[in-house]
Parts: sequence; C-alpha cells; structure tokens
Amino acid sequence: MSSSTSWDSRSGADSLSAATRDLIRRDAAAIWHPFTQQSLWVEDEPIVVDRADGMAFWDTDGNRYLDGVSSLWVNVHGHNNPEINAAISAQLGRLDHTTFLGLTHEPGIELAEKLLATAPAGLSRVFYAGDGASAVEAAIKMAYQAQAQQGQNRPYFAHVAQGYHGDTLGAVSVGGIDLFHETYRPILLDTLMVSSPGVLEPGQRRLNRAVEVLTELGELLERQGSQICAVVIEPLVQAAAGMLTHDVSFVQGVRSLCDEYNVLMICDEVATGVGRTGKMWAVDHAGITPDLMTCGKGLTGGYLPMSAVLTTEPVYEAFLGSAESGRTFFHGHSYTANPLCAAAAIANLDLMVANQTVANAAAVGRQIADEIRPLQAHPRVKEIRQIGTMTGIEVESVKDRTGFAICQAARSRGVWIRPLGDVVVLMPPLAMSPEEVTELTTAVTESIEEVLA
Ligand SMILES: Cc1ncc(COP(=O)(O)O)c(C=O)c1O
Repeated sequence: MSSSTSWDSRSGADSLSAATRDLIRRDAAAIWHPFTQQSLWVEDEPIVVDRADGMAFWDTDGNRYLDGVSSLWVNVHGHNNPEINAAISAQLGRLDHTTFLGLTHEPGIELAEKLLATAPAGLSRVFYAGDGASAVEAAIKMAYQAQAQQGQNRPYFAHVAQGYHGDTLGAVSVGGIDLFHETYRPILLDTLMVSSPGVLEPGQRRLNRAVEVLTELGELLERQGSQICAVVIEPLVQAAAGMLTHDVSFVQGVRSLCDEYNVLMICDEVATGVGRTGKMWAVDHAGITPDLMTCGKGLTGGYLPMSAVLTTEPVYEAFLGSAESGRTFFHGHSYTANPLCAAAAIANLDLMVANQTVANAAAVGRQIADEIRPLQAHPRVKEIRQIGTMTGIEVESVKDRTGFAICQAARSRGVWIRPLGDVVVLMPPLAMSPEEVTELTTAVTESIEEVLA
C-alpha cells in the first residue's frame, strides 16, 4: 500500500473522483496485473474502466478513450455490439455450459463448421481451447503425439528467435523474446531456434533476410530433421516482438522445408488471424496450408476467451484407434467449447461476412499507412512496420520508457494505446470508421512529435 499512499498525494490523483480513488486503492491492495511491474502500477495512474461502446471505452470519471489496440488485439466490431450481445443473451437462456468431454452441442458444432469454411483448404478439424497460449500448448502436444503415433521419435521443436506464443511453459519453450522467456529456460523444453526473419541488418531487404533464415532452417533440418516434429512460426508478423514483419516468401519457404523433411508446420495465428492482416488468415497471403493452425484473440469478436487448433485430416487420423490403443489426445479443459463463447464467435464470424470486415480491415490498414507516413521523415522515428491493421512505429529511446511516455501523451488526447518497449503499437478494431482512424493517427502522431521533440 505504500505506493498507493505516494500516488494519492500526487497532483494527478486530485483530478479523480473519490470513487475512482477508492477503486484504485482496492486494486492496489488485492490485485496482481499481468505483464505489469506492480511497483510502478499505481504511480502510472491506472485507468479504471467503467463501460465501453463502439470503438471507445469510458473511465469511472466519464473520460472517453478511443480503443487504439482493440483491448489488446482482440476486438473486431467494437464494444457493446448489438448482434454479439444478442447472441450471447440468447445462448444464455438456452445452455450456459456443459462439458465437451463426452457431450456435444450445436454452438460448438456450428462454430467449427463456420471456422473451417474460412480456413485454408485442407484444414478439416477443430480442437477448442481457451486462450491463445492454451491453443499453442495443444498444438505442440498434438504435433509431437501425431508424429510419435506414426512411428517417428521426434522430441524437438524448431522455432524462431523473437517469437511469442503465450505464457504457459510449452508456449514459452517455443518463444524467443529474452525479456519474457530467458528466466524460464532451465525449466523449458529443449528446442532448436533459428534467427528471426524480421530482424534485419542495416539496409537489408526483407526478401534477403527471408532467404538467409530459410537457409539456416534448411541446414538445421538437414542435420537434425529426423528428430524435429514441428516448426512453429508466427506467419508474417512477430507481433509481441514489436510488430516485426517478414517477407511472405519466408512462410512459403518454411512450408516447402517442412514438406521436404516430413516435419509438421504449426502456424500460430492467435495475433495475425481473424482478419488482422487484411486477409482472414496471414497464411492466406502466402497461399499455403499449415498442418496445424492456432487462433484465438479475435475469434469471439473480443468478448470471451476462446481459442482453437485447426488441423488437417492426416494429423487427426494419427490419433484414431481403439480405446486401448493409447492414441487418444488426452488433453482438454473444463470450459472447452463453452457455448457462450461459441455463440459470440458465431455472431462475430457472421458479422464479418455480412459487413465485409476483412476488406474493411485492409482499408483501415491502408488509411493508417497513409496517415502516419509523414512520421517516417522524423529523425527519431527508426522504422514503421505494418501489415494490414497491425502497426508498429519504432522510435529512438529519448527518455526512460519512451514508448510508454508516448502512450501517456496519447491518453491525454483521449486515445488508448499500449507500447511494446519503444515500439508504439496501433491495432484498432477491424471495423473502425475512417473518422475514428484519423482520430487515432492524429493523436498518435501528435504524441510521438511531443515526446520525441
Ligand atoms: C502469436 C501469439 N500467440 C499466442 C498468444 C497468447 O495468447 P493469449 O494471451 O490469449 O494466451 C499471443 C498473445 O499475444 C500471440 O501474440
């Protein structure tokens, strides 16, 4: 509570209502926030969210904030969407939840059919999980077991430096961001990591970098391919590393190498999927089908936690056999295929079709690119990286927590964004209107200019 006491005596706290101050005090006393240095949390003057509607949310003192990062990369159609609200309410009156172990239900079935209809050709099965990390966890266990049940002893995963796949231990094992992952190395799976296709030498072209990393991966597979069960990548954008983008040829090249060495390809589309890159799936840019594909985040339109692994028929068939064969995928969760989540996801996918949301996402991406282009000339802006709506503006460090300072400056302009180090991230809901996109890019541009001045 000492931090809350010092915070309470700051001038910023004076502008807050007594009710808001009390909530912050209670938060500081009881809560541990994710990805948050708690010793700075209260000092940084947290926003207490009261309600949300459309592309914005409001704090408990009535201040409005445009949601510039889709409530951490999940929101699709905006908040308080009437169709998704109605779908969840209708489902609530019919079936709240039953287990998916030994039972099934219509929302779970209908969602799987709808999801597969959007997926790259060849993906034919849906395994539900909860958050993005739990989908990745399921995918890597599936890949290992599928290979093992086909007589292949392949205990290693190949993955990419700067990768991020969530925070459970399997997902961390195939991650490659030292700040997040290095602490846990002694307790992780033994994996084989190649360089990031998104980290370039000065002046290097993305295409050349893709060739370099594919060569590295090819050499690894040549040496140890028979021990590797899968290659795990984030297709096109390594989001958590700071929106590091790579050439589409990298995704295509990984597919070819996996085919050559009989290794499964896992594409983690938790961040890139459901329209974020301006196509339904990032792999659609590459025209390839992975053997396993994870999705989450935007699946329910940003309402409820639900994720999934989509697989091909050969992966699925590797698990078939008698009850005694031991070939079952012994993996699942209490809330697998929760009907409320499934109802939200169905409504989300239906709306995406009706409103041509993926095309809108591509248009939002183009508008963001046009409106932030002048920042490229700023001497302290290092690089702007973008695919579809996924945007990262990397700036020079001019002070302690420069990226954070820019986000605070945006906050004072009524726009909520969250940085990745000194990369300012923009990832608005896919259905954002042109006027709202301009509101976002104007506030971000002004904030960057203010802090980097
Ligand atoms: C590519 C990728 N995979 C997995 C995850 C983990 O998802 P979740 O936070 O829902 O567990 C994330 C989260 O940002 C992600 O970007």
